Amino acid sequence: MEKGLFITFEGCDGCGKTTQLELLAKYLQDKGYDVIVTREPGARGLGEKLREILLNYDGEVSSNCESFLFLADRAQHIDTIVKPAIDAGKIVLCDRHIDSTAAYQGYGRGLDLEQINYLNNIATSGLKPDLTLLFDVDIETSMARVGNNKDRMENAGIEFQEKVRHGYLELAKKEPKRIKVFDSGKTIEQLHQEVLGIMAPLL
Ligand code: TYD
Repeated sequence: MEKGLFITFEGCDGCGKTTQLELLAKYLQDKGYDVIVTREPGARGLGEKLREILLNYDGEVSSNCESFLFLADRAQHIDTIVKPAIDAGKIVLCDRHIDSTAAYQGYGRGLDLEQINYLNNIATSGLKPDLTLLFDVDIETSMARVGNNKDRMENAGIEFQEKVRHGYLELAKKEPKRIKVFDSGKTIEQLHQEVLGIMAPLL
């Protein structure tokens, strides 16, 4: 591949996206593609420190501050990991990216979506995913999957998670070409096959 591919995985906490990301990574690696698996927040280095704050800090965090921390992590991640990998012709599979900020801080916390888009664009230097896979599941199921060991974001409550889910579906309606929605109520294998079907034209 001359120029690589940038594929992002999105959805509410406990939606099953990480399992699908790992299955796709293995499938592509077995086919001989050069694949990088990464995530936001906190791929490595400085990002890991930001992740620790974002998920575990137990004092007050304003919504704006939260957004800027996710965006700071994103800027570092794009500049030091994603962009160099894509330029080197690799396939980058990324667990969460710009749509998480729109869904969680925009629809979830109620921050202005246009501003979030503007700031996302700065953090990514305008780089957009080639494809985004959105795993949709009802919140009762997803929260049951998360269990009792919840981090700061997962502890934000059912109502918050419902807003995030709704937000994701709205984002998919706005950008149907880039964002493909999967019904996470299906089995892992069924979903994997659907993911391969969507990926096929890009390979
Ligand atoms: P993580 O443990 O990576 O969750 P998951 O395994 O569900 O992907 O935690 C990331 C949390 O941060 C998750 O609750 C979503 C949230 N988040 C935001 O609120 N905004 C963002 O921009 C990003 C990237 C994540």
